[in-house]
Amino acid sequence: MCSLTREVLALTTDEKYILLVKQLKNLFDGEKNIVANLANTAAVLKQELNLFWVGFYFVDREENELILGPFQGPIACTRIPFGKGVCGYSWKNKKSILVPNVNLFEDHISCNSNSKSELVCPIIVNNKVVCILDADSDKINGFDLTDQKTFELICSEIASLFSS
Ligand code: SME
Repeated sequence: MCSLTREVLALTTDEKYILLVKQLKNLFDGEKNIVANLANTAAVLKQELNLFWVGFYFVDREENELILGPFQGPIACTRIPFGKGVCGYSWKNKKSILVPNVNLFEDHISCNSNSKSELVCPIIVNNKVVCILDADSDKINGFDLTDQKTFELICSEIASLFSS
């Protein structure tokens, strides 16, 4: 095992998340294109957090629905109406939502039966949701409050890309 790997393994969850956010900020610093940055964000989150699926949905105002953006994982639903599912809930209520067991969320939209828990966070620019970050775990209780807080931080960094 190389010393770097030993050092990373020794980090606490909080320290790993600080590194993760730094890594994303560095990626964004070198590139202003939204799609490129969201694609790399999905890749980093999928790999570092060992997620089943992670990706973005853009708000399509004309159609009043979400449309699938860059993601990592199996194919997913392409369009989600306003207010529908966990993603629609987050869009409508302008807040992140952690669903420990998707089977207990009445309006959950199942794109893949292997998805067991979900964390969704809106990206808000000028008080309007422009995009949604959606992460799925293949385990029940796959996310905790630290994940939720970190996703909120990542989404606020992404929001500044939309407005810059
Ligand atoms: N489960 C989501 C739909 C999107 S997928 O999980 C990729 C929802 O209920 O909104």
